[in-house]
Amino acid sequence: MLPPYPYDRLEPAKQAAALIHGGAVDLSVGTPCDEPPAAVLHELGHSNAERGYPTSLGSPVFRRAAAGWLQRRLGVEVDAERQLAACIGTKEFVATTPQYLRLLHDSRDTVLYPAVAYPTYEMGAVLAGCRAVAVPVDERWCMRLDAIDPADAARALCLWVNTPGNPAGNLDDLEAAARWGRDHNVTVLSDECYSEFTWTGPPRTVLESGMDGVLAVHSLSKRSNLAGLRVGFYAGDPVLVHHLSEVRKHAGFMVPGPVQAAAVVAYNDDTHVDAQRAVYVQRLQRFVPVLAAAGFEVSMPEGAFYLWVRVPGGDGWAAADWLAREAGILVSPGDFYGDVSSDHIRVAMVQPDDRLALAAQRLSAIGAYDGSVSASASVNS
Ligand SMILES: Cc1ncc(COP(=O)(O)O)c(C=O)c1O
Repeated sequence: MLPPYPYDRLEPAKQAAALIHGGAVDLSVGTPCDEPPAAVLHELGHSNAERGYPTSLGSPVFRRAAAGWLQRRLGVEVDAERQLAACIGTKEFVATTPQYLRLLHDSRDTVLYPAVAYPTYEMGAVLAGCRAVAVPVDERWCMRLDAIDPADAARALCLWVNTPGNPAGNLDDLEAAARWGRDHNVTVLSDECYSEFTWTGPPRTVLESGMDGVLAVHSLSKRSNLAGLRVGFYAGDPVLVHHLSEVRKHAGFMVPGPVQAAAVVAYNDDTHVDAQRAVYVQRLQRFVPVLAAAGFEVSMPEGAFYLWVRVPGGDGWAAADWLAREAGILVSPGDFYGDVSSDHIRVAMVQPDDRLALAAQRLSAIGAYDGSVSASASVNS
């Protein structure tokens, strides 16, 4: 039996928030709200790529654009022919890759992932019939590679790392993760979909430490506000890229032709990303004091566009329930990302400024949250 989809569990909170005058301010799902580049949308309707089947690997021009972007923004050279291929956004890649890696290593049955993380890493293990083993995180929410049990390492098919991290915005040491993978003969999969939204220092990629045994996974969903197009790529070890791209070809994974053409335009432009970076930084900086004044413990993240907030009283569901009922604000309870973070909520800066201002105004009108309420049974079901 699969667990309920996390966001389906927010339905009662959604209904409560909708009752507040002015409607819900939805800061739960990390879905971009800002405009994608107009040139990308134009290309979508003018590529003339609708008739034939697209290549599963990604067209040569798509792969060259993605490789060019990696070189420009992350400073790494990859061979677009052998070391890079398309995926339909990163979620499907995260959810399906363990089962395909098992075809290469059938004696390995364990997927390692951070104990506080995007839930699909665990789900990919479940869907592959693998053991899902959470790696403990430190006080900065970075993985403690030294805490991995040697018995789990010996059975591990892959290790997921996510920098900047969702939900906490943490920056892990990607070079150390790659080294750990090579030392233990474990594939390292690095989900880098927030790479250009790194606020402390330059953007990073696992590929800086070489291609051997590693793959970096990227997406246009967040970078270019194109979550609706479903397009990304993976790059790294040519043996892994070859294996996965062959399997994915058989399984019929294809990014639609017009979407590949539009993605080329997006990867060739950085101006819109620089503008988007400024928008997120401003929203994050403005909302930190709003939440702090409402009684929450919060600071600027090192990356990504979420505020990762410790709640008074230690019950993330109760705080999410209170925010929905009293202020019409929807957030994600911390246990969506792991059992050890149930005393947190995640607040996504994915609403336009006027909606965030409305949320701020409502919060200041109702006074601080003190954690003395408990989650209503209807919400935390
Ligand atoms: C860490 C992480 N990985 C992957 C995804 C999936 O993104 P997409 O499938 O749109 O590329 C998300 C989306 O929220 C995410 O936060």
